[in-house]
Amino acid sequence: MPATVVVGTQWGDEGKGKFTDLVAQDASMVVRYQGGHNAGHTLVVDGETFALQLIPSGILSEHVIPIIGNGVVVDPGVLIEEIDALESRGVSTKNLRISGNSHLILPYHQELDALYENHLGDGKIGTTKRGIGPAYADKALRIGLRVQDLLDSEIFKKKLEITMRYINSLLTQVFNHPPMDSNEIAKVYLDDFAPRIVPHIADTVHLVHEELSAKKRILLEGAQATFLDLDYGTYPFVTSSNPVAGGACTGSGVGPLDIDRIIGITKAYTTRVGAGPFTAELFDQVGEHLVDIGHEYGTNTGRKRRVGWLDLVMLRYAARVNSLTELAIAKLDVLDDLEVIKICVAYEFEGERFDWLPHNQSLQNHAIPIYEEFPGWKCDLSETKKRSELPEEAENYLNFIENSLSIPIDLVGVGPGRHQYFSRQN
Ligand code: GDP
Ligand code: IMO
Ligand code: MG
Repeated sequence: MPATVVVGTQWGDEGKGKFTDLVAQDASMVVRYQGGHNAGHTLVVDGETFALQLIPSGILSEHVIPIIGNGVVVDPGVLIEEIDALESRGVSTKNLRISGNSHLILPYHQELDALYENHLGDGKIGTTKRGIGPAYADKALRIGLRVQDLLDSEIFKKKLEITMRYINSLLTQVFNHPPMDSNEIAKVYLDDFAPRIVPHIADTVHLVHEELSAKKRILLEGAQATFLDLDYGTYPFVTSSNPVAGGACTGSGVGPLDIDRIIGITKAYTTRVGAGPFTAELFDQVGEHLVDIGHEYGTNTGRKRRVGWLDLVMLRYAARVNSLTELAIAKLDVLDDLEVIKICVAYEFEGERFDWLPHNQSLQNHAIPIYEEFPGWKCDLSETKKRSELPEEAENYLNFIENSLSIPIDLVGVGPGRHQYFSRQN
């Protein structure tokens, strides 16, 4: 059986964790394919909340083999903490497998992340300061260390020593920052982290292909989202990897023809954390209401998220670059109390209408949203179990999105809990 991709269509935090957990009920393996612990994927099961950063969101299902793919950047200290936290809550992590080709985040990456942000001043990206960008930069420069380097202490020390000669000149000469000690770092990584990580290292490309050959369904879980993608997002206000569906191939070793289902996870409105353009952003009471009811604060950084209306210009683009086969809508319930709900259907710039995302980003920055208005349903959707129970206004809202994009909407979230959803297709 082929693979399914779960991909964010906006600026992250759409509910990828919740829907991955849900769809994983019919899968045997869940692979995280990019990003690192900048992600925060929330699962709420039987009233218990799990905020996952690196471990795939299939972890709560015993039948699922969780894989950290080669496209991920791994901070081993954070991963060990996450493993311990899950184990202490009775969740087994013994089947977790980590690609030896995934790259390590080292302490200087986190330091450099903060220094680069500081250097940008007012133009800063608003990163999670987890060292993600610098770790991917070292990967591209071919001076990164990989998880498999933990298998051989001599190789690890040698590579670290060479890389840190360059890193320390950057720290001291460019940033006037004290140098960092490669021996100290090697000691922590080899003595403390390696014994915990090494048992999980595996040839994950082989594992995913064995699963595909056995006709099992595997799930490829994206972190971040289309508009945080290094190539397709609102550069430079993006992350340093490729969250789009194409990244699911490069980050897991699954070939494009092995994928037959690509679910675009979409919040019923839009949020963004960090700086960058946001055409349909709200600065009024309605925006505050959405922050409040939607608990729009970062899952692991606690930062308040910026909020706005759903933006079809963004979704049309996301549909194309990800080959979306369906949409899953999260947080429809957050709109329950609104009298009027708006959807941005196009942008306007100097009198010209854009249904398609303007290629020139400065035009995108100054575009004005064109809205279509919908009456709210003004009732509690959180217990909805079937499409037929949905009020007409909510059904109209979803139909409008579906028809505008020509993409079917199947799963719809009406609350954070695992069972708070309904399917529109069944
Ligand atoms: P992710 O990064 O895409 O996995 O999303 P996050 O977990 O960062 O943010 C989504 C937030 O919305 C979490 O707090 C979820 O528990 C919550 N959530 C997910 N789906 C729904 C839903 O349908 N309704 C409500 N009210 N909350 C939801
Ligand atoms: P999940 O997987 C929302 C944002 C940061 C910043 C930009 C770059 O939970 O949806 P980085 O630390 O990656 O270099 O920061 O990307 N960002 C996210 N925003 N959800 C995420 O992950 C994010 N991961 C990174 O806020 O604007
Ligand atoms: Mg998140």
